[in-house]
Amino acid sequence: MLLEVRDLYVEFRTRDGVAKAVNGVSYSVDAGETLAVLGESGSGKSVTAQAVMGILDTPPGRVSGGEVLFRGRDLLALKEDARRTVRGAEMAMIFQDALSALNPVLTVGDQLGEMFVVHRGMSKKAARARAVELMDRVRIPAAAERVGQYPHQFSGGMRQRIMIAMAMALEPALIIADEPTTALDVTVQAQVMELLAELRRELGMGLILITHDLGVVADVADRIAVMYAGRIVETAPVHDIYKAPAHPYTRGLLDSIPRLDHKGRELYAIKGLPPNLTAIPPGCPFHPRCPRARDVCRTDLPPLYRVSQDRRSACHFWEETVDASSA
Ligand SMILES: Nc1ncnc2c1ncn2[C@@H]1O[C@H](COP(=O)(O)OP(=O)(O)OP(=O)(O)O)[C@@H](O)[C@H]1O
Ligand code: SF4
Ligand SMILES: [Mg+2]
Repeated sequence: MLLEVRDLYVEFRTRDGVAKAVNGVSYSVDAGETLAVLGESGSGKSVTAQAVMGILDTPPGRVSGGEVLFRGRDLLALKEDARRTVRGAEMAMIFQDALSALNPVLTVGDQLGEMFVVHRGMSKKAARARAVELMDRVRIPAAAERVGQYPHQFSGGMRQRIMIAMAMALEPALIIADEPTTALDVTVQAQVMELLAELRRELGMGLILITHDLGVVADVADRIAVMYAGRIVETAPVHDIYKAPAHPYTRGLLDSIPRLDHKGRELYAIKGLPPNLTAIPPGCPFHPRCPRARDVCRTDLPPLYRVSQDRRSACHFWEETVDASSA
């Protein structure tokens, strides 16, 4: 297994108390596999990814438990300089906002080239040539002419391509893309997503794709992990989730996206708000919003039940949820 996150806990010290952002998350990604991580704002998708990458904001954040095994080695046990070597060369991250992730006072050629100078000991000239190659590869037109331009001189979609180029420069085994297309308009979104999927295939990388958008996931992901209040509530191969979700929260997310085959059906919204992470409700954290909740849900935290060999659901009533979904 390329990456295995085991029972990860992350908390933040805040003025209102300890915010429990990640509460026992386990997931894994293999080489060549795409895992989509889904969930509402504040569910802990990014914080989990930051802990994996070793870029958590500490303090106020703190990993309070768990393991992050990368090729069998626990990254959480590494010293910062060893961690830094892993970052970039073996795993890289793509962020939503390229403009703030890229350095505004360096040309894109210098930023791309720096990867090769620092990690591969190349000369500046050779590194620049590699930068142009990379820009070509992510299909930036007239790369040789544009290599000397600054990030603000590129459109949003082109900047996102530059960030993808940076991330894959050293051909890492794993890429984490955190809402990589959210800031772009719809047509550009599709192009960037396609590019990412294509490069992943070509390079055989593992990809973790964090997104709000269940719509894009169907085409690119192999597996889905749905997060709620810092926990994984359902994980399954992508087609299983679309066919019949085994958790009412997943059901709610699916019903809240417009789908062609659901034409005419009224668009649904999950009622209520995600919980305050300094005071997560007892029992099933989703119970205040769940249409299926009953007494046991208010007292007993559901474990991740085994639905089938490669499916889990943290719902006491996953069976009836699947049945209702397949009906
Ligand atoms: N720097 C921070 N300081 C304090 N609390 C934080 C910090 N970063 C994250 N948190 C807490 O962790 C929770 C989870 O944040 P996270 O960024 O992982 O959410 P997310 O699922 O990525 O949401 P979004 O879809 O909005 O990006 C937040 O709701 C917040 O309570
Ligand atoms: S355990 Fe209960 S409250 Fe939680 S999702 Fe299942 S039915 Fe709803
Ligand atoms: Mg996020």
